[in-house]
Amino acid sequence: MANIRDGFGSKAGVIAAAAGSAVGLGNIWRFPYVAGENGGGAFLLIYLGFILVIGFPVMLAELTIGRRAQLNALGSFKKLAPGKPWFLVGLMGIGAAFVILAFYSTIAGWTLEYLSQAISNGFSGKSADELKVSFESFQAAPFRPLIWQMVFMFLTGFIVFSGVKKGIEKYAKILMPVLLVLILIISVRSLTLPGAMGGIEFLFKPDFSKITWGVVLDALGQAAFSLSIGMGTLITYGSYIKKDINLPITALQVTAADTFIAVLAGIMIFPAVFAFGIDPAEGFGLVFIVLPNIFEQMAGGYFFSILFFVLLAIAALTSTVSVLEVVVAYFSEELNMSRKKATILGSVGISIVGVFATLSFGPLKNAVLFDKTIFAWFDFLSANVLLPLGAIFIVIFVGWHLGKKQVKDEISNQGELKVRLINVFMIIVKFFAPVAIAAVFLYGLGLF
Ligand code: TRP
Repeated sequence: MANIRDGFGSKAGVIAAAAGSAVGLGNIWRFPYVAGENGGGAFLLIYLGFILVIGFPVMLAELTIGRRAQLNALGSFKKLAPGKPWFLVGLMGIGAAFVILAFYSTIAGWTLEYLSQAISNGFSGKSADELKVSFESFQAAPFRPLIWQMVFMFLTGFIVFSGVKKGIEKYAKILMPVLLVLILIISVRSLTLPGAMGGIEFLFKPDFSKITWGVVLDALGQAAFSLSIGMGTLITYGSYIKKDINLPITALQVTAADTFIAVLAGIMIFPAVFAFGIDPAEGFGLVFIVLPNIFEQMAGGYFFSILFFVLLAIAALTSTVSVLEVVVAYFSEELNMSRKKATILGSVGISIVGVFATLSFGPLKNAVLFDKTIFAWFDFLSANVLLPLGAIFIVIFVGWHLGKKQVKDEISNQGELKVRLINVFMIIVKFFAPVAIAAVFLYGLGLF
């Protein structure tokens, strides 16, 4: 192949694209509902701990693999460990991409429905109960959610189709700054609602009596999901990063941005939850019920609700793009397809799986196994099973297979940069992270 490989053009582009992947529905939709179900403050504390000691090192490990190999998630393992079974880790990541995007696109589709409701002033004059009922009837109706899901997959495909620099990077650089401004504005509004302090207390005051191994696993799963680690997204993005970019700083900035936005989403949502007397353990629907309530009450709510759902959709879009890119990079580099064909095949294939996730709120809602619907299984399987497993193998690969010399060479940009704490990093990836993730995983699933 004589073609020059596509890649990110600038440092700002790398940060925007990687933060665009990390910041998404995981922060604004999933974090609040999982924190809400798991008791709030204590969950947040454990989550933050995992971000620091596991999330950040795994992110750096993934970027290192990708930039070293300059290939897709599967090809990277094949190139760095020829003839060894490590490529299976890449394969699991491709599979995880299908599972994640299948259910993620359901929720992403909901954001478009809510955008259209915001535009038609659909929240106005509705009580908290009415907003809840209308949310529930929407998700159960089969056609609208399916159509929005397909529209969302089309948008995702459109950006990926346009390439890494001209698609993914270009859109992320425009969309991410706007998202930040909007979330700040809405948090301030939420904080000034009467009764807001109840929500702040719920989020920041830890009550350790709520902690079980299941809660700890949820915190780990949420940390992995939110940072986009454990699946090969950051291996793929890492492969598009130029050799003169500082990887540890990039990983640190992306981790910090993602965590900041998740906490901000909590600050935006829980005060409103408490102000409107909604149960914080409401589940999947939390943001879709609570936010319309805020907008209904606030000055300029019509305007802000439109902006908010545009931006929620955008946050989702820069993330769905990063998941689809894993599949597309794999199809095009390993199976020798053109980018265009790979994009079409990948998005159509994922959409087909996605239909089952969407229908599990309506016609398929009785297809339940061990208390979980198809949607809940996809969500649980990806965040709590596939990502932790992927993360374990990734750190073991970097710690034991690549080893300190290669790692140091890659993260120091071939000796150009001074790297500090390399020994700490190696201890984490060789021993601490695999053992800690495995322990949480086995205890959390009740296998231990
Ligand atoms: N991190 C994104 C979010 O929080 C979702 C996401 C994108 C993701 N790529 C991923 C999750 C890879 C796991 C693995 O919305």
